[in-house]
Amino acid sequence: MAILVTGSTGYLGSYIVSELLQNYHQNVLLLIRSQDQKTAKIKLWKALQLHMDSSKFQQLFNTNIKIFLGDLTDQKFGLGTDEYQFLTKEVQSILHVAASLNRKSEKACLNVNLRGTLEVARLARNILKDHELKRFSHVSTVAVAGVRQNKVILEDEAIDWNISDYDPYARTKKFCEHLLRELLPDIPLTIFRPSIVLGDSRQEKTTQFDMVQAFAFLASLTMLPLRPEDRLDIVNVDFVSQAVTHIHQKKNPRFDTYNLSSGIKSQTCRQITDALSTFQNRHRPFYFPSLIKPVKTMVHLLAKKRNSSLGQLARLLEVFLPYLLWNTVFDNSRIVQETGMSPSRFTDYCYPLYKFATQNNFQYPYQELPTSLEEESHDGSSPTTLG
Ligand SMILES: NC(=O)c1ccc[n+]([C@@H]2O[C@H](COP(=O)([O-])OP(=O)(O)OC[C@H]3O[C@@H](n4cnc5c(N)ncnc54)[C@H](OP(=O)(O)O)[C@@H]3O)[C@@H](O)[C@H]2O)c1
Repeated sequence: MAILVTGSTGYLGSYIVSELLQNYHQNVLLLIRSQDQKTAKIKLWKALQLHMDSSKFQQLFNTNIKIFLGDLTDQKFGLGTDEYQFLTKEVQSILHVAASLNRKSEKACLNVNLRGTLEVARLARNILKDHELKRFSHVSTVAVAGVRQNKVILEDEAIDWNISDYDPYARTKKFCEHLLRELLPDIPLTIFRPSIVLGDSRQEKTTQFDMVQAFAFLASLTMLPLRPEDRLDIVNVDFVSQAVTHIHQKKNPRFDTYNLSSGIKSQTCRQITDALSTFQNRHRPFYFPSLIKPVKTMVHLLAKKRNSSLGQLARLLEVFLPYLLWNTVFDNSRIVQETGMSPSRFTDYCYPLYKFATQNNFQYPYQELPTSLEEESHDGSSPTTLG
């Protein structure tokens, strides 16, 4: 039997799958959007090359990975009867990581996050007709807490239906949690809520650049329209993926919901910009909180400029500015106490990340999968025969 993972070709999903494969030697069934197996394999390699070389990838592909070509927004993921049946028989637990993070698209968030999560919940119910499902883990977000200011939020305080949401992403992720709790009362359910997942504390490389780009832009300014003492709850992806995989496989986790965040140890804007200025041997920026309002208006106007790089940057900032201004952090005592792990300080690894991102023009220098491996498929020992 094996763990079904959605979102394995994404940033966090690739870390979670790599962790399951390399540190826990698990067998994984991956739902990947793709036309055919070969393209899906190449797509997976693109995501996993942050974590392994191509020969290791091929070895794990042969022994521990099975790909299902599916889309969350299709009924039964668009799988054939046999494949869907296979999942209902062979899935021992589910790690639902996939989502649309398109904060500006109500349509994408509604389809992928709500309809998609409903489809995964349906699969869970079908599995239950066949055998026990050990765990359903859902990767949510701290953004479910909605519009807050100057708060430290505990897990049980986050969902408040009277509080407005920042965007369609936050709104749909909030309802996903509700949907899963309502539909899966008889399945062990764990909700993980990461804060801003940014960078790996162990290496400078990243495949996710949106937030890094917004940071790099802000780091290049000499005057910042921010409050210097506001805290930013940034968390390293290696901590998040290790926490998710650890709790997911635990028999009886102590809680059903975990913030995966830096919590009260989150650093302030000033601490982060000071660290970047020191590394770059530059003057510290000046802070002008009085500029917040005019800058927000300007960003909003510039974001309307389609097809220009300034417009693109403004759209990025428009999405991320609320998270830089809410001065709200998410208590992480639960996960820290239960796992004994703590997130790294952003200032300890932000400069290598910044350097990697800017030197590579915010693009990952992808290595192609050697052609000899492209065609090579499973050698017959599928995950189910191993598990
Ligand atoms: N990144 C953060 O800062 C952050 C913070 C808090 C919470 N989270 C949560 O963490 C999770 C992963 O985020 P991420 O940053 O890794 O996102 P990401 O890099 O954009 O990855 C999203 C993944 O979801 C898959 N997906 C999207 N639509 C799909 C569909 N219709 N059918 C099947 N798969 C689909 C994508 O597949 P394709 O490769 O085909 O697009 C991709 O594998 C999400 O649940 C997100 O809400 C992220």
